[in-house]
Amino acid sequence: MTPRALEHAPYYVLAAVIAAAAGVLLAWWLRRRTMVSIRNVYLLAAAAIGVDVALLYEHVAIALRVMVPLTAFTIAAAAIGRRWRLSDLGAGEELRAHERARRWLWQPAVTRAAGERVHIVSQGQLMRDRAWPASEPFVPLTARLDGPRVPRSSGRHVFCVGATGSGKTTSALRAAAGRAVKDRTALLFVDQKGDPLAERVLRALAATTGVPFIVLDPDAADSDRWQPLWGERPAEVVARVLAGIQTSEPYYADVLRQHVGLVASVLYAGGYWPPSMALLIAASQRVHYARVLELARAHRTVHPDLYERVSAHAAFVVSAEGEKALAGGLVRLDLVMGEAWRTVLTPRTDSTGTPVAVSIADAISERAIVLWRTHVDRMPDEAKTITAVILNDIHAAAAHAQAAGPAPWTCVLDEFGAVVETAADQVLALLQRGRTHDGQVHVITQSVADIEALTGKTGLLASMADNFAGFIVHRQTAPESRDWLAKLMGTDALWQSTDRTSGQVGTGEGSRRRVREFRVGSDTFAELAVGHAVVHTTLGPRPALCAVRPLQLPDDRALQRIGTAERSPSEMIVHPALQLPAAPTRTKRKTTAAAKGNATKSPAAATTAANAGGRRARLAPRDEPPQPPPAQPPPLVDEVHLDELRAADVARSADADAPATSSSTNGGLNGV
Ligand SMILES: Nc1ncnc2c1ncn2[C@@H]1O[C@H](COP(=O)(O)OP(=O)(O)OP(=O)(O)O)[C@@H](O)[C@H]1O
Ligand SMILES: [Mg+2]
Repeated sequence: MTPRALEHAPYYVLAAVIAAAAGVLLAWWLRRRTMVSIRNVYLLAAAAIGVDVALLYEHVAIALRVMVPLTAFTIAAAAIGRRWRLSDLGAGEELRAHERARRWLWQPAVTRAAGERVHIVSQGQLMRDRAWPASEPFVPLTARLDGPRVPRSSGRHVFCVGATGSGKTTSALRAAAGRAVKDRTALLFVDQKGDPLAERVLRALAATTGVPFIVLDPDAADSDRWQPLWGERPAEVVARVLAGIQTSEPYYADVLRQHVGLVASVLYAGGYWPPSMALLIAASQRVHYARVLELARAHRTVHPDLYERVSAHAAFVVSAEGEKALAGGLVRLDLVMGEAWRTVLTPRTDSTGTPVAVSIADAISERAIVLWRTHVDRMPDEAKTITAVILNDIHAAAAHAQAAGPAPWTCVLDEFGAVVETAADQVLALLQRGRTHDGQVHVITQSVADIEALTGKTGLLASMADNFAGFIVHRQTAPESRDWLAKLMGTDALWQSTDRTSGQVGTGEGSRRRVREFRVGSDTFAELAVGHAVVHTTLGPRPALCAVRPLQLPDDRALQRIGTAERSPSEMIVHPALQLPAAPTRTKRKTTAAAKGNATKSPAAATTAANAGGRRARLAPRDEPPQPPPAQPPPLVDEVHLDELRAADVARSADADAPATSSSTNGGLNGV
């Protein structure tokens, strides 16, 4: 270096310092915001040093004015960048993987999903920001369109949780109504408590969108009527209706299903289809089995197998074992459907005198808003049973409605925790059905911890959570619930520093280690105000806290109700019989042909014809011509009069060790 060159030393020092600072800035930017490796700068620094040496060797001092700051820039960037690189490699996990994925300048850029951005923030926290997928429809939960949101496409179910009064129903109504309005879906709302808010909002929504509003509530004077017995397979129909009936042992549930299924098959074959619930319950009573047998006998030419099964079953029905196995379930069925829900399950008579009731498949096709209120506080057992029927009906109706064309639906299960013990399996089935049959389900509950605690099913919570794409989390106080939700929303890894102290004073020394921290801390959920929620989805953006905007709807529009006039498009025709005709006595058996005539000419023929029209054709019973009675009925081993069955049963009981009382052996059939 010549003395002349030293004259410019202050310039070189200043330029080198400024350039070095810029180099540090470059290294910072490359590390935090790009996927370009700092190793590229190593090459530049080496090249700069090489040029400097060459210039010194050649005594081209003037060029050093440029090369000194350039060299300082690259060396500073390379030095600090290398330190950070080694630190990131040493951090392990995702930060190490991120560092290793960085590229040389000549390598192609890392491809990412549209809107995805990966960057490092303070404390070495790797942030992966994903934008909401452009093709994914959503419902914004705030006034801002770009704010927190939940998905609204079919199969993307939403879970809403929060302590009582925290704003769950308000939030879920906004999310579900968004889909109902935007995608023109039917809205099926199961309200366990009888929440006036839900009814008010749903009425206003139905009035605003001009769709029918259907209320199914055993306590409401203006309740509509509901027909859960529909479909072409009596055994399936019965399975749907009996799913919620609790029996002390699974065997009794199976026997009940077999018995009522057989009765339903006879009603179907005899043209009493679709039967009212009252008819099915009445015909299923053991005391009326003779009537079922008689109806099966009247149709045995067309359905010989059925007659054989029904007559073979008669011995069981009148036996002591039959009484023991069936009595409890039949009483339960009668208590729930024949008493508590009797009015709702009894068809109304329309202006033409035809019995009609709401078919959920038709209500879905009509995009109706249906509100069930089960009053779980007052009738907990009935609510559990009827919820199982509701969920099974929606499950079957969703598939059935699709057969006639697009029929999207949205189902909201408010206060699901109240019925989770009995309805968990049905809800899982409904979530699955939503994916395949254009539906979205919103499950609302007070505490996530309840789901496993009440059902005793370990792993149920996890398997349910796997089905949800959106979570609206309101205030949660239970620590287990808060911890579970914090875990659900994921963690970020970051550097945690520790200070070494001597006495009470920090020594200035310390260490750091990589730790995982919840994206949303468990305590956050305990501090949420009413209407505030943490919104989490599996679709992109990170969880965000927001104040949910309640749905605001005009309430001055006219509401479409079914009323008392002619049949609504959401209703189907129901068979008018409430009871099967009494079976003839043994002496009258010779006039069986007349009974057969009565059965086949029953009002079912009218039901069949009316339901067969148009869209209802799919719900119509089979269209079979009445069969003439056989001239010489083939002798059947089971073709015995019930008196004979009773006699045979008494004999069997006498043979058995079990004492047989007259009441247990006659099965209550004396009144037949
Ligand atoms: N997003 C909100 N903004 C303003 N007020 C709200 C909001 N959400 C709820 N509220 C208020 O809180 C009350 C309770 O709301 P909501 O019924 O939705 O809560 P919930 O959690 O469903 O209660 P519950 O457990 O009793 O069913 C509402 O009457 C309403 O006044
Ligand atoms: Mg509520």
